[in-house]
Amino acid sequence: MDTSRAFRAFFHSAPGLTHLNNAGLSPINIEAEAIVRYWVQRYRAEGMFCNDAYLEGVDQARVQLAKFLDADPGSLAFFQSTANAISQIAFQLQLKAGQEVLMWDQEYGSNLYPWQEACKRSGATLVLAESADEMATPVEKLLKYVTDQTRVIAISWVQFQTGAITDLKALAEFARKRGIWTVIDAFQGIGVLPFSFRELGVDAVVGGAHKWMTSPVGVGYLCIKQDRVREFLPHNVGAYTFGTCEDPTDLTCTPKHDALRFEAGSKQVLEIIALGASAALIERCGIRSIQKTALDLSQDLAEGLRSLGYHVTASNGRKQTSPIVNFSPTEKSPLASHDEVVKTLVAHRVSYARRGPGIRLAPHAHNETADIQRVLKVLGHS
Ligand SMILES: Cc1ncc(COP(=O)(O)O)c(C=O)c1O
Repeated sequence: MDTSRAFRAFFHSAPGLTHLNNAGLSPINIEAEAIVRYWVQRYRAEGMFCNDAYLEGVDQARVQLAKFLDADPGSLAFFQSTANAISQIAFQLQLKAGQEVLMWDQEYGSNLYPWQEACKRSGATLVLAESADEMATPVEKLLKYVTDQTRVIAISWVQFQTGAITDLKALAEFARKRGIWTVIDAFQGIGVLPFSFRELGVDAVVGGAHKWMTSPVGVGYLCIKQDRVREFLPHNVGAYTFGTCEDPTDLTCTPKHDALRFEAGSKQVLEIIALGASAALIERCGIRSIQKTALDLSQDLAEGLRSLGYHVTASNGRKQTSPIVNFSPTEKSPLASHDEVVKTLVAHRVSYARRGPGIRLAPHAHNETADIQRVLKVLGHS
């Protein structure tokens, strides 16, 4: 069995549903489900007697996710959401009046708003680079906005509306030479596109669980270079900033030296352990094979939509390099308006999102050709 078919075997969806909003909320894999059930049962049966075991479970999840991201476990901090992880950096970097934070003009709110607010509070300037045609996000265009005042470049790797990709390697090389911070929201890429924190060389990456990682909602993470960890203070502070719940309080203690200093207190153990298991599953099934399946399906979907007369936004060109497909009706398409498309998708129980210029569909490797054929069939009828 090829590895992506092996991945599909870990999804047991309810009949009649077509899951094409994986860039929003994917169904979770059955290993994640099983490990959540396992820990719920242990909590019920054992209470405090499983305290050490669940803490070890969190440590193991950190190791699993760090391995998957190609980073050190000490570089990784868990948060409740991506917004929380970004806020940790945005509000603690001590931005100063006159400095600039550079972002694309199409960032998701959980990335945009923490930086916007941090700029407002500090007097720094938020600079929004204008996207290129078809909402493309070429790194060369972004870098034209860099000035001597640029302190941070904070962009998404893969944009949430149309899947536009920015070349992070080129960005990191440019920024490193100038001492500019690179903080990347990679939620829309990690889990379906190969990723190596070590190789990329950006300063920090944030992500979450419930999209391409196919894990339960409720956990975000920050992965940060070790030499950047101590350049700013923890945003939230509690017992775990310094030690564990076992330690006596001590007014002279200092924060941990690694990224764990950013985790203030008790964590979402179930979601974190599930995320570790999901990372291990994706690694076992093979990220390259998962990528190929998802991109092949999205290519078939994009081409099928174009041949039906819909416009597909080609942010990365006509060859799909992210699985996100964003399309709109035209005068040639069987369905004439966005509302009609939405009504049709809802009637046929196809999950979707309305984003930016059109309707977003986003196949993952747990989808199959039959899903794409089904959606093309329903969108092909006037
Ligand atoms: C690029 C991007 N970042 C972050 C998120 C999620 O942010 P949060 O975890 O704060 O809800 C999303 C999607 O919902 C997203 O598309």
